[in-house]
Amino acid sequence: MEMAVVGLGHVGSVMAAALATQGHGVLGVDVDSQKIELLSQGRAPLHEPDFEALLQDALSSGNLRLAIPGEVKGLGGIVFMAVSTPPSPDGGIDLSQVQSALHWVRSIARTGATIAMKSTVPPGTGRSLMAGPLKGSGLLYAANPEFLREGKAVEDWLQPHRVVIGGDEPAAIEALRQLYARVDAPIIVTDTTTAEMIKYSANAFLATKISFINQIASLCDRLGADVETVARGLGTDPRIGSQFLSAGLGYGGSCFPKDVRALDFLSKENGYAFELIRAVVDVNNRQRQLPLAALRKEFESLSGVRVALLGLAFKPNTDDVREAPALDIIEYLLEEGAEVRAADPVAVDHARQFVPDSVTMARSAMEVLEDAQAVILVTEWPQFKELPWDRVARIMVEPRFVFDGRNALDGRLLRSLGFLYRGVGRGLTSERATDAAVLRSLG
Ligand code: UGA
Repeated sequence: MEMAVVGLGHVGSVMAAALATQGHGVLGVDVDSQKIELLSQGRAPLHEPDFEALLQDALSSGNLRLAIPGEVKGLGGIVFMAVSTPPSPDGGIDLSQVQSALHWVRSIARTGATIAMKSTVPPGTGRSLMAGPLKGSGLLYAANPEFLREGKAVEDWLQPHRVVIGGDEPAAIEALRQLYARVDAPIIVTDTTTAEMIKYSANAFLATKISFINQIASLCDRLGADVETVARGLGTDPRIGSQFLSAGLGYGGSCFPKDVRALDFLSKENGYAFELIRAVVDVNNRQRQLPLAALRKEFESLSGVRVALLGLAFKPNTDDVREAPALDIIEYLLEEGAEVRAADPVAVDHARQFVPDSVTMARSAMEVLEDAQAVILVTEWPQFKELPWDRVARIMVEPRFVFDGRNALDGRLLRSLGFLYRGVGRGLTSERATDAAVLRSLG
């Protein structure tokens, strides 16, 4: 089947390469000529496990061609739109990249081609595009939202949990049905706006789960319960499910924060108060202040206190720092006069543009832990979880305060090594249990 992918960011580049390895002739288009150059050499412009190998397979199969718009003569079959839809200052979504890409597609696509919208657009967008810029174009339109996660994008594309096809024209739906015919996952076929709504609801629901467990964690801290065990107890109920119940510094990234805010914005625009989603946002913003509150309890003043942050990326296995908790935490610490250093295995280069020069950054944790009085685990990279904490105890200095912002470390072990350990919602019980164990071992 002839197809093109317009916009080669995280979603676009992975799906273009994957579709090509699945035997389709794919044209990948992006306005960024450097990106096209890099991809054409089989090199990944982003950190995404397994992507580079997939890209190289796609290129060597001869099924993937890459071009800037000026080099493209015509488009037909299915044209996937995967350009970025960043947040706009008013809390809505900036659709300018979608609009200009569609303008170009319209000028070059053959009548009967199907535009499949992969970019996350607010519910209602598809219908306004059909009634506006695409009216009379002879092009078909379908919403085909994408659910892949950064860091697991290849796996998610190859083994999706579901495929959603939303269209108001049977021929558009049929084109996509054929494409996904061999996918082993439920296919949900609906109208355009409902498909768009599924995407927003999925992200908003997952974000709600995170803010919910984070509020339970705050209560656990106050009551002396352990949120990790509470989450296990909750998650074993299949009606609840065990995923997205990890308490911590909250969600970040290019999707949840913007989609949740946009849903709030869209609700207001339509005269509806979505109180729950507002609370999800507020709780998430507050989570980022937890390390600061914990540090303030241990240090009279943070002025001159040497604090090491472990993790800059918004989650492990990506170099993406968009809306990453680390960036806010660094800002809060600097405002209080702390001396901040930060480590991340892959995100240092991306973070540099947002972090002042006064913050020392390194790829390895050990480099930033020397002499530090406090450490904050922000991103649960495996290499941070597996640090030789006995050595860390020797290179850090009193009070060796550890704020485990992802509940990823072994609190008991750290306490036994002389660290002052604090987690999120696991404070009191584990602390009491450890204190009791320490007392017993002291006789
Ligand atoms: C998310 C969705 O999971 C994808 O299905 C969706 O396609 C994508 O957004 C998108 O709309 O493009 P992603 O942003 O890559 O994917 O990241 P997630 O793995 O979902 O994690 C989001 C954030 O939630 C991270 O900051 C993570 O640390 C945080 N999180 C996740 C928690 O704080 N607790 C949890 O239990 C799970």
